Amino acid sequence: MSTPTHQLNKSSLFLRNKATAKAPANIAFIKYWGKADAELNLPLTDTISMNLSACLTTTTVEFNHSFQQDKFTLNRQKLTLPSKLVNHLDRIRRLAHIKPRAKITSSNNFPAGTGIASSASGFAALTLAAAAAADLKLSALQLSALARAGSGSAARSIPTGFVVWEKGHDHASSFASSLYPPHHWHLIDVIAIVSSQEKTTTSTDGHQLASTSPYFKLRLKQLPHRIIQVGQALKTKNLQLLGETIETEAIDLHLIAMSSQPPVFYWEPATLQLIKLLPQWRSRGLPVYFTLDAGPNPHLITEAKYQVKLLNQLHQLKFINQLIVNRVGEGARLIPNPRS
Ligand code: PMV
Repeated sequence: MSTPTHQLNKSSLFLRNKATAKAPANIAFIKYWGKADAELNLPLTDTISMNLSACLTTTTVEFNHSFQQDKFTLNRQKLTLPSKLVNHLDRIRRLAHIKPRAKITSSNNFPAGTGIASSASGFAALTLAAAAAADLKLSALQLSALARAGSGSAARSIPTGFVVWEKGHDHASSFASSLYPPHHWHLIDVIAIVSSQEKTTTSTDGHQLASTSPYFKLRLKQLPHRIIQVGQALKTKNLQLLGETIETEAIDLHLIAMSSQPPVFYWEPATLQLIKLLPQWRSRGLPVYFTLDAGPNPHLITEAKYQVKLLNQLHQLKFINQLIVNRVGEGARLIPNPRS
């Protein structure tokens, strides 16, 4: 029979085994496309991003010896845990030397089916919540590296504001850190949802195919200069330099995807319809530029002072289903557990 002291320890341990974290999605200005190491999710280049204030995942993780298996609820729906998530939980359990199964309850504040990838915000929130629930004492850089092992771009959703992910050469050296806090530059990212269809090629498959493109090596050669340009543009708040560089960079990613074997087409006709309008808008005094993830929905980048003008233009376009307005967001943070 357990002693009263043992019971007390056990119950207090259970209380500490639950934690909740909130983490943003991010949009890459310099993209991660192609991996140096597929096991560790090591990129071939440094990448740079901005956190998105309006695209957040909130995740509660509870470890408990009484759970028979890991359980996962996403947006109030009970789901079978995807293997990527099980592997990540196992990684955290191994690090913390703990065995209990986990209950993960997760929700995205951005509407489902908008084609916005939730893997960055999802793995960042899961990593922070699970590490706290497992009582792991990790630095911000170690947390970022751990999130990266779950899903590469999640590394960039741990630090705040504008973020650089240094490619590194092994697990410990490949992590992201903040370049500037959110208030450094009042940029906005208006995501124009032109298609809500699930993409048919996941980014995991896209990464793998990237090196089959004849343009892949050329892109790697051009990246060091492009990284310097984005760094310079962020430092000096030069919207034109940032905008022209991120447009080239986004087109490059899609050029690689379209020329992979087999080719991957993420664009929809409406993607092109929208981005072809931007030079006209710029010539009429609205300095707005696009970037794209591995999907069809353009991210429109400009300064906050142009938000009303940009939204006025966008509201006239019938082929846009929805707009999501983001400022530069904070990184992942722990928040109080919800009352259950
Ligand atoms: O983290 P992943 O494996 O989902 O890859 C993300 C790939 C892009 O979103 C297209 C680019 C990036 O750097 O975020």
